[in-house]
Amino acid sequence: MIILGFETTCDETGIALIEFKEKKFRILDHKLRSQFEVHKKYGGIVPILAAREHNKNLPILFNEIYIKNLVNLDIDYLAFSVGPGLPPSLLSGKNFVVNLAQKLNKKIIPINHLIAHFYSVLIEKNKLNIWQTIKNNIKFPALGLLISGGHTILVYFESLKNIKKLGETLDDALGESLDKSARILGLDYPGGPLLEKLAKKGKPIFNMPKPLISSADYNFSFSGIKTYFWQLVEEIKKYNKLDEETKANLAYSYQKTVFETVLIKTKKAYEKFKPKSIIVTGGVAANSYLRRIFLKYFGKDKVFFPEKSLATDNGINIAFTAYFFTDKSISYEKIDIFPDLKI
Ligand code: KG4
Ligand code: ZN
Repeated sequence: MIILGFETTCDETGIALIEFKEKKFRILDHKLRSQFEVHKKYGGIVPILAAREHNKNLPILFNEIYIKNLVNLDIDYLAFSVGPGLPPSLLSGKNFVVNLAQKLNKKIIPINHLIAHFYSVLIEKNKLNIWQTIKNNIKFPALGLLISGGHTILVYFESLKNIKKLGETLDDALGESLDKSARILGLDYPGGPLLEKLAKKGKPIFNMPKPLISSADYNFSFSGIKTYFWQLVEEIKKYNKLDEETKANLAYSYQKTVFETVLIKTKKAYEKFKPKSIIVTGGVAANSYLRRIFLKYFGKDKVFFPEKSLATDNGINIAFTAYFFTDKSISYEKIDIFPDLKI
């Protein structure tokens, strides 16, 4: 079975072609085009520009894949992220995929972007044309933590398909808070990876409050800590120059505070639900420091991350996840987008 998957929920245009044979798969081709150069001068994503870029990139990337893989193009299904995401970005993906489905006379598998982030841990390697086995060492029930630019959610997987939400952020997502704090330090967008780089040169000398750690639920909040961080930086600027060393110390301290906060909440759910595994995914799960503190606490047999290149948005996650939902395929006339789609 061959699936062609599309990702356009936010600011990454991703397309991937994956072949499946029972419990094995191989990535025949994939393309990813990031838009950060377009959005960075605005300090965040401008939805209408994101859609314009998707409209421009989709035919280019699709043609590259189509021309190169003509021989293999006996596609069984198309798949695309129907939400959650920015409405203009989702629409741009929908229009392209619906058009293609009509031309090729194929059904479409609608994919929940959040589920695709979780399922990405089942992919061992993002390597072209290598047959791989779908990862089978993740045991259920499992806890799932999704930490990205748009979402911070803790879920309980009774099994791979039976998922229940335990808690989520009440305001900013973790990635969003990292991006905003990075901006306060004068870094470009997206700030998460740049903050990580800067933090490597620093020490965690600033103490900051950990939000909601003693609340009885599994919710998160990152908008207060970001304001605290902004006030702290303003205070420092009154008396000192914000030199590179201070910035690095601030970056490290911020990461430490917010990552320990999610670790504390995850531990709490772990103690209550006693899952067999923990899946940590989403753009922020690309962070090495975050990986380290989770691995240190839970151990490498318990906690699973996607390969770093698959932690952030991409088409491979979508085409791969679609394999598990072929029973949900529908005709192009019925396809719709869901900007507020939930788990
Ligand atoms: O999953 P993703 O690509 O998009 C959403 O679905 O939101 O996540 C993007 C987020 C951004 O906030 C970005 O700053 C963050 O993931 N991110 C990181 C790292 N790489 C990406 N945050 C911390 N450390 C990283 N290495
Ligand atoms: Zn995402």
